[in-house]
Amino acid sequence: MQQAEVDYRLLEKQAAALLSGQAHLVANAANLSALIYQSMPRLNWAGFYFREGDTLILGPFQGKPACVSIPMGKGVCGTAAATGKNQRVADVHAFAGHIACDVDSNAELVIPLFRDGAVFGVLDLDSPEKGRFDEQDETGVAALARVFEASLD
Ligand code: SME
Repeated sequence: MQQAEVDYRLLEKQAAALLSGQAHLVANAANLSALIYQSMPRLNWAGFYFREGDTLILGPFQGKPACVSIPMGKGVCGTAAATGKNQRVADVHAFAGHIACDVDSNAELVIPLFRDGAVFGVLDLDSPEKGRFDEQDETGVAALARVFEASLD
């Protein structure tokens, strides 16, 4: 059996340790995006968008400069935020309405973030490799999103 590339149980523990004792939204988003970007291979972007009304606004991230504002319901991030469902997209070019911030991005994984049952933002990962994210990545990154949400309480 192939060795899993990322030990998500370990990464979850590292994330919890990194964010423990700190409840600041920007500080924790900045540190978690850095931890993810350093720990997961074959990413070209990892970061956050936070909801302001009908729009998602760029938050802390690692990677190239990105689109500042995404309407709710548009693109992969806006779809995740509007539906409250994880979006795991093998080929972003086949996703209707995909917003191309970085031409290098080919696959995307977006996890909506909840507070009191409502979406307040998304955690977005991009990869230059089509099909980069499998079910294990989705489960593992969703667990990191839960650590982030819990850190803000
Ligand atoms: N591609 C995203 C936009 C955000 S960037 O990837 C950083 C989308 O379609 O929502």
